[in-house]
Amino acid sequence: MTSGSPHTGNGRACMARDATAELDPPQRGGFGRVLVTGCAGFIGSHLCERLVDDGRSVIGVDCFTDYYARDTKEANLERLRSEPRFALQELDLSEDDLDPCLEDVDTVYHLAAQPGVRGSFDEGFEHYVRCNILATQRLLEAVARASSPPLFVYASSSSVYGDASDFPTGESRARAPRSPYGLTKVATEELTEVYRRGSGLRTVGLRYFTVYGPRQRPDMAFARFIAAALADRPVEVLGDGSQIRDFTFVGDAVAGTLAAARSGRSGSVYNIGGGSQVVLLDAIDLIRTLLDRPVSVKFRSRGRGDVRRTCSDPRLAARELHFLPTTTLHDGLRAQIEWALTRSNGMAAVARS
Ligand code: UGA
Repeated sequence: MTSGSPHTGNGRACMARDATAELDPPQRGGFGRVLVTGCAGFIGSHLCERLVDDGRSVIGVDCFTDYYARDTKEANLERLRSEPRFALQELDLSEDDLDPCLEDVDTVYHLAAQPGVRGSFDEGFEHYVRCNILATQRLLEAVARASSPPLFVYASSSSVYGDASDFPTGESRARAPRSPYGLTKVATEELTEVYRRGSGLRTVGLRYFTVYGPRQRPDMAFARFIAAALADRPVEVLGDGSQIRDFTFVGDAVAGTLAAARSGRSGSVYNIGGGSQVVLLDAIDLIRTLLDRPVSVKFRSRGRGDVRRTCSDPRLAARELHFLPTTTLHDGLRAQIEWALTRSNGMAAVARS
């Protein structure tokens, strides 16, 4: 679900719990370097900032795919660029040599991917295969070759559940994706299992549920709604707006990710959800209230592969990672709106100068 993946753009670019696989805490590192793939993306850039703030040395890998503007990704890296503990490597996971960037790394956070549900059909699928499956397999090979293989923490998605049969949805529920994107995330989970079983890698997966907040990808709902409202355009709702999402604030997604690296059980995958279910039209009402301006709605046909409802069962992550989200939709949306306002004021100032 992150940007900054090895997506080549236009031609370029629940596993069973293994009770025997408890991680040895001293092996979790904490003093060596960490590698974050997709570092210029939405969640990746927030994760890198938090790691640097925690005193870690971070190697950030990104290949700046053309899924959205490079300027937007560069802006995500603005603070990190001046951090002495952060080093950017522009690499394509699906074709470049990955061994050098894994030297002395104790934890890999693999967030790079071609994200987005709606674009994964038709010809778009090829990019998803390359960025989500091939890239992950090449990274896993490199991790397995390392003299002291790092812990492999990786991003999966609530999209693996498809239209789930039970709510809240627990990790042991059958995966039944409704989109090719979701299928590539199932493949990511399974590939990681292959290398855990075959090469003894220590791995922890995270199923993020519709993450939002400052720097949200521009193709995602809240980013589009806020941008439209600020430009006095109607927001475009795909479907009738009655779909329900477990929206997750990016700060909570980062906290869950770090908790997984600290306490995750190898071979497990955890739901990282926001803790509340919200009907899309109610979220738009909240945006209207927070912006204190009228927001009109235009209804479009339902997005292909869109699921009716997501709702994370938080209990496994609470029990094993001691992770529970803390940011309400109200506070998280307010933070995203404040960020969007700062950004649009900044752009207006540039345009005026
Ligand atoms: C999001 C991410 O895009 C995926 O990468 C991620 O893996 C997935 O969450 C997940 O949790 O599995 P989605 O839930 O579709 O996918 O997130 P949004 O793009 O924010 O869309 C939320 C809802 O708003 C969807 O029902 C979508 O159809 C709708 N939407 C989106 C609109 O009504 N209008 C828009 O302009 C965009």
